Formats: sequence, structure tokens, C-alpha cells
Amino acid sequence: MKKTIIVTGGAGFIGANFVLEWLKLGLGTVVNLDKLTYAGNLENLVSVRHNPQHIFVHGDIGDQALLTSLLQEHQPTAIVNFAAESHVDRSIHGPEDFIQTNVVGTFHLLEAVRAYWADLIEEDRQDFRFLHVSTDEVYGSLAKDDPAFTETHSYAPNSPYSASKAASDHLVRAYHHTYGLPTLTTNCSNNYGPHHFPEKLIPLVIHNALAGKDLPIYGTGQQIRDWLYVTDHCAAIRRVLEAGQIGEVYNVGGWNEMPNIEVVKTLCKMLDVKKPRADGKSYADQIAFVEDRLGHDQRYAIDASKIAKQLGWKPKETFESGIEKTVNWYLENQDWVSNVTSGEYRHWVQKQYAERGEELA
Ligand code: NAD
Ligand code: DAU
Repeated sequence: MKKTIIVTGGAGFIGANFVLEWLKLGLGTVVNLDKLTYAGNLENLVSVRHNPQHIFVHGDIGDQALLTSLLQEHQPTAIVNFAAESHVDRSIHGPEDFIQTNVVGTFHLLEAVRAYWADLIEEDRQDFRFLHVSTDEVYGSLAKDDPAFTETHSYAPNSPYSASKAASDHLVRAYHHTYGLPTLTTNCSNNYGPHHFPEKLIPLVIHNALAGKDLPIYGTGQQIRDWLYVTDHCAAIRRVLEAGQIGEVYNVGGWNEMPNIEVVKTLCKMLDVKKPRADGKSYADQIAFVEDRLGHDQRYAIDASKIAKQLGWKPKETFESGIEKTVNWYLENQDWVSNVTSGEYRHWVQKQYAERGEELA
């Protein structure tokens, strides 16, 4: 029998990709709870608008009464928690929303789920899973030659965003340890791909390049991130849900470390071929080095051998194949980009980059 799951934050970047794939694979009904912040966008879900197996609910993970009634009504076998404030720069400008959603919201979600799970019959209690989607940023920053983060690396979050995610990871851990809630946690590296909101490096650079604007590189551009194509992350989550050991943590990454400047130059080269500038020059001419991010983490790298060895997951896409799909998606979905870059987006870009001496709005 196909099962019902509740996904939180399923109108955002990774959540929407996860929901679309879940439905495409015919894995069952998804109740999608999303607050629709600036980052949540129903346009991401337009292709499943009439699918009876997708039930969208506009609401907050911090609303325990709503969660209690959704759990009673839909009797899910799993919760996948994507809902979060996710942008580091926004957390530097205004940390409060991050504490509210990522910490307090996760707490209320856990409380509602704990009560629901406790009342299930034994067989359903055994089958139930709470999967918390987290980030490699909780481990802090690595020096150039340090080994990549394993699941036992100590937590050392450096931004209000990563501190709030670390707090939520600790709550999830505690609900397993104390109450026996069958939790799973994934800590993933930087995702990229379709439906990525253009405040993050890759979609921002594609958007600005095509709009003839500067491509802002913080500091020297030598900071390193480990990039993973979003559908590979979704496949890892499905695999952990299916076969992960209760209470365990799984690191997910692309084995693909790159300095930011290299990512941006790759994008420029690809756009030079696919959508040449009218003046024949390279998009790389638009690169602008700007003031660095406060407390900028130098390097993230994920050791994804546990999930590979124990669950047989590894990424399908290389950076070359994934970035090409991503650029193609943005070129083919300029309406999506125009819609999400109106209103609040302009206000954010103005505030964020004006401080760095850039006029990008
Ligand atoms: P996103 O910002 O694109 O989407 C977040 C979604 O959560 C939005 O749809 C938003 O409306 C919703 N939301 C926010 N607050 C909510 C609340 N209180 N109640 C219900 N819904 C709420 O984020 P993303 O990049 O898709 O990331 C999803 C998750 O994956 C986050 O938990 C993030 O920490 C984690 N993660 C992201 C990355 C990455 O590279 N993007 C990597 C590793 C882990
Ligand atoms: O590592 C996983 C994390 O990756 C997720 O948990 C976060 O939700 C996600 O936002 C992402 O965080 P980053 O801070 O690494 O991503 P971002 O795209 O904001 O930045 C990537 C790198 O590029 C980082 O070193 C900062 C730099 N950067 C970013 C922007 C927006 C620039 O140089 N210029 C920019 O304009």
C-alpha cells in the first residue's frame, strides 16, 4: 500500500524538487506544509497543481495545533522536514526569523510529532520516521588540508543560520535519545539546480549575467564549497528514509570541492557559448570583487562514505553535467526568474549589495 508523508518547506528549492520527484516516482501522497515566505513559491509546484496526491497546506511548522490536526487527519508514515530560513547573508542581517523557524519551529514540529507517534499502534510506531534535513555548515569551517567532515566531526557553527540549524539538529537528536522518536538526520553540502532562489551564488550569477549586472564575488573568491546537484540530494533523502538506521546521521555531498571564483568562471564560459553577449565580450568581464561576508567560512567538504558504504547512495551527476542542466533550466525558465525577482527580492538585493558598494537592484 502506498503511504502518505508530510513534507515541510516543500515550496522552496530542495523541498519542491523532492515533492516533484516523489510524485513522479509514484511513491504515494504528499501533504506539503509551507509558510510561503519569500523563498516559498507555488510556481515551483505548478505541474502537480491538479494531482490529487499532492495536498498543499499554507502554514507554519511553529503552529503546533495545525500540525496536530494535519497528523490526525492524514496519518502519515513519515515527516521530511525541509522548512527553514536558509540564506546565510539574511541571517547576518536579521537572525530572529532563523531562531523562530529553525529552532522554535522545529521544536513545535517535534512536539506535535512526538504526541502523534506515541499514540500509534505498535506496528505503525515501528514504521514511522522523522527525517530532518540539515546542512554541512553546522560543522564550521575547514582549513585547506583538513580532512572532510565526517558524521562525528564536532559541531562549530559560525553564522546565525548555521547555529540555528545546529540547534535544530540537537533537538532532533535529543527527541530520539530521550523519547525514542525514530529520527534520521542528513547533513548535506551546497545544492544547485532548478528552482534555486536567485539570492544564492549560482542562480544569482546566472541571473545577473543575463541582466548585464555585476557578478559579486565576496572577498577573494577563494572560499571553497562542495557542490551537489539537487536531485542527487533528493535521492539520498529517499534512500535514508527507506533504509537509514534510526537515530543515525548521514552526511551527503558531491565529492566536488570548488573555489567560488572557479564556479563563477565556469558559469560565465557556459553562458558565453549558450547565450553570447551582444557585444561579443565574455560574461567574465562582469565579475566584481566586493566586500567579504562577515565571519565567512573558508571551506566546507563532506565525506560521504558512510551513506555510500551503508546505503549504497552516490551522486549521479558530475559538476559538469549538473551545471549544464542548471544553466539550461534558467535559460528556459526566464519567466520563473522574472516572477521571483520582483518585489521583496529587489528590496533585499538593494540592501545586501549596496553595503558592499554595488548597485544591483
Ligand atoms: P529555501 O529557502 O529555498 O526553502 C525553504 C522553504 O521553507 C520555503 O518554501 C519557505 O516558504 C519554507 N518555510 C520557511 N519557514 C517556514 C515555516 N516556519 N513553516 C513552514 N515553512 C517554512 O531552502 P532550501 O535551499 O530548499 O533548503 C531546504 C532545507 O535544506 C533547509 O532546511 C536547509 O537548511 C537545508 N539545506 C539546504 C542546502 C542548500 O544548499 N540549499 C544544503 C543543505 C541543507
Ligand atoms: O553548505 C550548505 C549550505 O549552502 C546550505 O545550508 C545553505 O542553506 C545554502 O544557502 C548554502 O550556503 P552558502 O553560504 O555556502 O551558499 P551561498 O550560495 O550563499 O554562497 C556560496 C558561496 O559564494 C559562499 O562562499 C559565499 C559566496 N557568495 C555568495 C553570494 C550570494 C559570493 O561570493 N557572492 C554572492 O553574491
